[in-house]
This record gives sequence, C-alpha cells and structure tokens, in this order.
Amino acid sequence: MSKRIRKAVFPVAGLGTRFLPATKTVPKEMLPIIDRPLIQYAVDEAIEAGCDTLVFVTNRYKHAVADYFDKAYELEDKLERAGKFEQLEMVRNPLPKGVRAVFVTQTEALGLGHAVLCAKPVIGDEPFAVILPDDLIWNRGAGALTQMADAAETSGASVIAVQDVAREHTGSYGIVATEDFAERQGRIRAIVEKPKPADAPSTLAVVGRYVLSPRIFALLETTTPGSGGEIQLTDAIARLLAEEAVNAYRFQGTRFDCGTHIGLIGATIRYALDHEKLSAAAQGLMSEALREMGVTELE
Ligand code: UTP
Repeated sequence: MSKRIRKAVFPVAGLGTRFLPATKTVPKEMLPIIDRPLIQYAVDEAIEAGCDTLVFVTNRYKHAVADYFDKAYELEDKLERAGKFEQLEMVRNPLPKGVRAVFVTQTEALGLGHAVLCAKPVIGDEPFAVILPDDLIWNRGAGALTQMADAAETSGASVIAVQDVAREHTGSYGIVATEDFAERQGRIRAIVEKPKPADAPSTLAVVGRYVLSPRIFALLETTTPGSGGEIQLTDAIARLLAEEAVNAYRFQGTRFDCGTHIGLIGATIRYALDHEKLSAAAQGLMSEALREMGVTELE
C-alpha cells in the first residue's frame, strides 16, 4: 500500500445528540474553537498531510457544512464594499487551489463504518484517510495525519491513531492489542469496540484518525451491525487484521474529544492560551474566574 494518501473522508452525518439543544440546528462539526469551526481544523490537517480530495459524508440536515465550503456572494460583496479585505480573504477561499470538496449523502445514520462505506465511489482503489472532526488534535509540530501518512507511506500498512487512556475509560473507545512498539508504532493483533475495563486487552484507545487500505470497503460491505446496532468501522478493521498489516500509531499531540462538553471546553482553553493575540487576555480571564470562584490552589 506504500502510496501517499490523496483523499480524506470526513464522516459528519452523526446526530450529535450529546450537544443538544445546540445541534438541533448547528451541526456538531460547525461548533467553533475561537473563530473556526471544528471542520476547518480537520480540513487543514488533511491538506497539510497532502490530501487534495476531501470527501464529506453528510446528511440532509447538514447544509451548513456544504455552505461553509461554498461561495457566499452577498457576504463577499459586503465585505469588499466595506474594505474589510482581511475578512474577505478568509471567506473567499475556503479551500486552497487544487483542493476539491466532494459531498456524499448517508441517508440513514447507520454507524461510522457505514458512513465510511458511503465514500467508496469517490475513493476507489487507493489508500485514504478518515478524520473525525470532533477529535481535535493540537500539536505545535506536524499534524497527526501528516505523521500517520508518513508512517503509512514508509511501512505500506494501514495506520490507526491511538492514545493511552485510563482503564476505567476503555468502554468509550475501540481498544487495541499490539505487538511491541518500535518508535511510535506497533502492529495491531486485535481490536475490540468499547470493552469493559476488565475485558480490555490494553489501555490503548483508537482516536479519530485512520489511514486505511481500500480493502476495508469490501469488508464493510459484509459487516453486520455491532455495538449499539451500528455498522462499526472497528468491526471491519478487526477483519482487515487477518488479511493485511495494520499498525497502531501513538501520534504526537494533545487530543480533545470535542464531541463531549469537557473536550470542547478543553480545546477552547488550549487554543486560547496558544493564540498569538488572545493568550494574555485568556490567562487573565482564567485567573480571575478561579479567584472569584474561590479556587486558590490548583492540583
Ligand atoms: P459519534 O459516535 O460521535 O456520534 O460519531 P454522533 O452522532 O456524531 O454524536 P452523539 O454521540 O450523538 O453525540 C463519530 C463520528 O462518526 C460520524 C459522526 O458524524 C462523527 O464524526 N457518524 C456517526 C456518521 O457520519 N454517521 C453515522 O451513522 C454515525
């Protein structure tokens, strides 16, 4: 499989129930961290990794995602007339030259595995990336997907992002058992979806970045609904292991699960503290809030 990935799939057809009532009208992927929606961070990461074809798997309620990457004639006109050229540049070119966006519909939310399968006609027979935009990975160096794409190109294997989690949290993740790690990678021997802490083969959890061999599509086509009655990507990956090498990759960076309240708060704090213009003010706000709430000592 040692080809560089060019295509990335963004499954954004989930219901986002954990962020109701906001997600009644605003898709989870459009929730902002500072001034950019989660989907923008995910797209930037894919483009940095070398992808030129971005495949969004959406549903009929998520027009906002497609609109975001479309032209906004009226807004552009107003900004131009007002001489707001910096803002105009931001909205005028949502994607760099040479990068195209393709929208595919998942008519029913049958699970992440099913959402990825919906992208098959656009991906064809080449390795590709999957990015879950609600897993936001902050890093000062190369993005997580760039790290993984480099690793996949070198090894020729599929690559799945993992991070260590507390044993009591294994029930929220796909968990992998691996051979010994060399550098950041280890070959996966087994993968289980959301095991109870006592049954988990390790505490290495899968997070929302994958570089996958196209063989996954044939396996997804014959994968039956699993955990939660959904067609799980994890179940198809478990079958891929029997046929091809799949490596777990401990990426460099901090991951925020922005599909949860605390993850979104954590990401906002981190990006604010790292922000060129906002950092000092954000620190001040945080100290003030802690003082006013009577928190004098931090753990
Ligand atoms: P989640 O498990 O976070 O589900 O999906 P969700 O529906 O988005 O959110 P909650 O749990 O109801 O709050 C993981 C990823 O898979 C996509 C989601 O959009 C998200 O990026 N997904 C999930 C689909 O595209 N289709 C599906 O049928 C299910």
